[in-house]
Amino acid sequence: MSILVTGGAGYIGSHTVVELLNIGQDVIIIDNFSNSKPEALESIRKITGKDFKFYEINYLDRNSLEKVFEENKDIESVINFAGFKAVGESVEKPIEYYTNNISGSLVLLDTMRKYGVKKFVFSSSATVYGNPERIPLTEDCKIGGTTNPYGTTKLYIEQILKDIYKSDNSWDIAILRYFNPVGAHESGLIGEEPQGIPNNLMPYIVRVAAGILKELSVYGNDYNTPDGTGVRDYIHVVDLAKGHIKAIEKLNKEKHGLFIYNLGTGVGYSVLDMVKAFEKTTGKKVPYKIAPRREGDIATCYSDPTKAKNELNWVATKTLEDMCRDSWKFIQNKM
Ligand code: UFG
Repeated sequence: MSILVTGGAGYIGSHTVVELLNIGQDVIIIDNFSNSKPEALESIRKITGKDFKFYEINYLDRNSLEKVFEENKDIESVINFAGFKAVGESVEKPIEYYTNNISGSLVLLDTMRKYGVKKFVFSSSATVYGNPERIPLTEDCKIGGTTNPYGTTKLYIEQILKDIYKSDNSWDIAILRYFNPVGAHESGLIGEEPQGIPNNLMPYIVRVAAGILKELSVYGNDYNTPDGTGVRDYIHVVDLAKGHIKAIEKLNKEKHGLFIYNLGTGVGYSVLDMVKAFEKTTGKKVPYKIAPRREGDIATCYSDPTKAKNELNWVATKTLEDMCRDSWKFIQNKM
């Protein structure tokens, strides 16, 4: 039986494909390289020594997608990573974000239904919690109040999945709410490659350390946090990828259901903690200046990952040092 991975050449998708191949799972990837590169596929083969089927298609293209299901009658489940994910860009391009993320998911889900494939893992985000009701965040905290179209697409797709499950409870659905994925595969062969100037903290830090960007702007040091800078739950992308394996295992063995899990470490680090950890691990300087707060940011966001531990038998095991070392190794390979 195969798992179809949409967006499998992207950052989180490629790491998840590696973990799937490592456990001997057959994988089919679709990707249109809108935010990834074909080299990632070659790197996956190099890391795992294994092969997979690949289709260069857009998941909005129903005919091409149907062809994939038609040609691969052994598809048993689908993991959907084919979402646009840049917060700032989503504010500029809401139609593109709603179309790609929501319409794309609907075409995918409708095609799955047509071919009788009803196991689905969805990449959601801690962004669905909006301004957190309480910290640490548990899965039953209030959701909503997203502040950008990207976040709203995650919220709406979660609702769509709940409605689908309500209408037909022979679906098996796992909604995974990621906290802040960072790091790269320890081989340094796959990692995050944002186009243009990065918005996220870790890709920005590595580029400053590498001399590609001059200095980091720390967005606000007057938050109600231990050092005044924003606190987040950074999780190594390989830990996150392994969470998908556990989610698939659960969907395969449980009786039908819709399950929601936070994937985080449960520990919050500030922006300055991250800068210090990076400098200590790599021996590189990260010059920074304090800048005004960034619109839409919150002070503190970290998970309570207990539910994933109890029900999936999953915990994040990699350290902040691993996250810094692997991010650095990846950018050095790229330079
Ligand atoms: N930060 C800086 N300078 C930068 C970039 C970020 O100080 O150049 C700070 C931010 O203000 C924040 C922290 O670093 O305090 C983390 O910022 P990121 O942009 O890396 O991450 P966010 O927590 O803002 O957003 C991430 C993901 C989103 C997701 C969100 C909520 O990028 O996709 O978490 O889960 F929606």
